[in-house]
Amino acid sequence: MVKQKTLPIWHGQKKEQAWEETIAQQLFQKTHKWSIPKDRQLVTLSGLCAEDGKLLSGCEYDRATRSFDGRKPIISDPSQFVGIDYDPEIIKANRKVCPDAKWLCGDFYESLCILLSENNLSPLVVNADFTCMPAAGCGYLASIMNLLSFCPGPILLVGNMVLSFCHVRNTTIDEAVDSLYKEENFKAAMNSGWVLDDEWYWYKGTGKSGGTCMASLIFFKK
Ligand SMILES: C[S@@+](CC[C@H](N)C(=O)[O-])C[C@H]1O[C@@H](n2cnc3c(N)ncnc32)[C@H](O)[C@@H]1O
Repeated sequence: MVKQKTLPIWHGQKKEQAWEETIAQQLFQKTHKWSIPKDRQLVTLSGLCAEDGKLLSGCEYDRATRSFDGRKPIISDPSQFVGIDYDPEIIKANRKVCPDAKWLCGDFYESLCILLSENNLSPLVVNADFTCMPAAGCGYLASIMNLLSFCPGPILLVGNMVLSFCHVRNTTIDEAVDSLYKEENFKAAMNSGWVLDDEWYWYKGTGKSGGTCMASLIFFKK
């Protein structure tokens, strides 16, 4: 049985609001549609979506498959959802409650490489929902972006990172973007047509202390 102690539940009202702004609204802004066409995927660092053998209300799979505030669900078929997590317990629990979605246990970037090599990667939305600081996350995000350049068609990539943690370490968004621009993978991706939105999103992390500041950067390629 899956226990909350060992498997952190990331969702909550703040997370849902951030997801609504950075995924649903951004998808609409960029494509003028609320839903992903059936032949395209939502690929995400899913986290835990199940508890006690039931779908967790407000988890990412739930958010992706339900209507909200009058808008249509982001995906209309479970097979469009590709959830990746390197925690096998999370994948096992998620697979049990949503057997028709695609659940991959492994590193996010490596899983994307495998999907691409198998010709099974066709995302319209990629949610790189990381909780690392820019120093550790920018190189990784840049490699994801460069890899996605090899997928044809438009892609919305949402890159999340932690700017400050427990009021101790702080990085500004400008420093984070500067770090990205130093990455060769990022430069290559930008040369292949990716655009970084001028606007970025800031929100407080879901931890009880409220000391974590998260940032979402929005990238789009046509
Ligand atoms: C922030 S949570 C995801 C929350 C989810 N997207 C949501 O909106 O509810 C982070 C999850 O990512 C997983 N994770 C972190 N880094 C990863 C990586 N490089 N590859 C695969 N999974 C990773 C962790 O195990 C954790 O379950």
